[in-house]
Amino acid sequence: MSVMSVKKLTAEHIEDIHRIDLESFAHPWSQDTLKTLLGSDNACCFGYFEDDVMVGYVALEWVLDEGSITNLAVLRSHRRRGIAEELVQKALDFSRETGLVSVTLEVRVSNHPAVSLYRKLSFAEVGKRPGYYSAPVEDALLMTHFISK
Ligand SMILES: CC(C)(COP(=O)(O)OP(=O)(O)OC[C@H]1O[C@@H](n2cnc3c(N)ncnc32)[C@H](O)[C@@H]1OP(=O)(O)O)[C@@H](O)C(=O)NCCC(=O)NCCS
Repeated sequence: MSVMSVKKLTAEHIEDIHRIDLESFAHPWSQDTLKTLLGSDNACCFGYFEDDVMVGYVALEWVLDEGSITNLAVLRSHRRRGIAEELVQKALDFSRETGLVSVTLEVRVSNHPAVSLYRKLSFAEVGKRPGYYSAPVEDALLMTHFISK
């Protein structure tokens, strides 16, 4: 039987994140960007592991008491198993423990799987950024989860 776990990520997981990004995004973050993120005092990433193999991750960054989910991806072969939901819930739990009051994110308006996931986890649509994304050009929906005390 597989053993599942969610762990805080460190610089040793850069390759794992990059592997998941490559199959999830048209413009994956560079390894330098990932290194900066993982070394930041204002960021935290969590990975979902199946038998010690990372199959998904979420990146959370914050300024003062406002957080942002800046990336979320799950390997194609592992989608629709509740992994992203568990990762975002972990990021929200961490946000509450850290004293953040809200967590915001941008998502392509056409990204129905992600928008559905965020709605399910009580993210509300608070705005739109016209033409925010390139290749293809598309609006971003701005969604916020307000942390209850
Ligand atoms: C979006 C993404 C992270 C979802 O990961 P996942 O592990 O498959 O999602 P989960 O299994 O946890 O799904 C939780 C909820 O999300 C929604 N959801 C996920 N995939 C969906 C799909 N293909 N269609 C419709 N709703 C979907 C559903 O509400 C689902 O709840 P349900 O199972 O009760 O219906 C994944 O599709 C992915 O990595 N996509 C590419 C990268 C990306 O777009 N990241 C988001 C950037 S903002």
